[in-house]
Amino acid sequence: ETASAEESESASEVVSSEETTSEEETESIPKQTDDWNLLLVNSEHRIDQSFKPELAEVQNGYQMDKQAVDSAKRMIQDAKAQGVDLLVCSGYRSYESQQRHYQNSVDNLKAAGYSSDEAVRQTLSLIAYPGSSEHQTGLALDIVTPDYQSLDDGYAQTAAAKWLLGHAAEYGFILRFPKGKEAITKISFEPWHYRFVGEDAAREIMKKGICLEEYLSA
Ligand code: DAL
Ligand code: ZN
Repeated sequence: ETASAEESESASEVVSSEETTSEEETESIPKQTDDWNLLLVNSEHRIDQSFKPELAEVQNGYQMDKQAVDSAKRMIQDAKAQGVDLLVCSGYRSYESQQRHYQNSVDNLKAAGYSSDEAVRQTLSLIAYPGSSEHQTGLALDIVTPDYQSLDDGYAQTAAAKWLLGHAAEYGFILRFPKGKEAITKISFEPWHYRFVGEDAAREIMKKGICLEEYLSA
């Protein structure tokens, strides 16, 4: 049931993949911490294929790390009370599910005429290589709204995206791939992808407008 949702994510992500990531090096290597909520996963910090958190349902069958699920549910509930509908469209993804998601995107781009290199490059700007995705940690949620479910830059203009930007930190979530941080995150702006880090870290990260790599390097 989540497979079709993932395919639709893949399809719409492909459409918005004209934004590219730069090759710039990050200045310092972020350190890993022992805090489960600050686990860093990116193209340079992979997790094992066997990594699987304890899961709980957050919305519509989508699951996430059970340690973060109450915060996520509270966020969705409070948004609703303020007239904002938050719709989860992806949560925990297994290594294998990320692999399918990645491969679908590469295959679709190749079918559309892109070279293998270009298909991989465009895919990697929006879909992490298997083992490099925060979705495998169960700490990331892709959140849209019923009236706007495309994963593209236009989503940033919706009431839901604006509410999340202003309030997610109160529930321990951060905008994980901000505009302007592509050289560090290696991922394009994703106004729908929120990551649980806990309230203290989230408030500091969102207030300073930094990304998780910068927070962990400080
Ligand atoms: N879309 C994010 C980068 C992921 O695939 O984990
Ligand atoms: Zn995501």
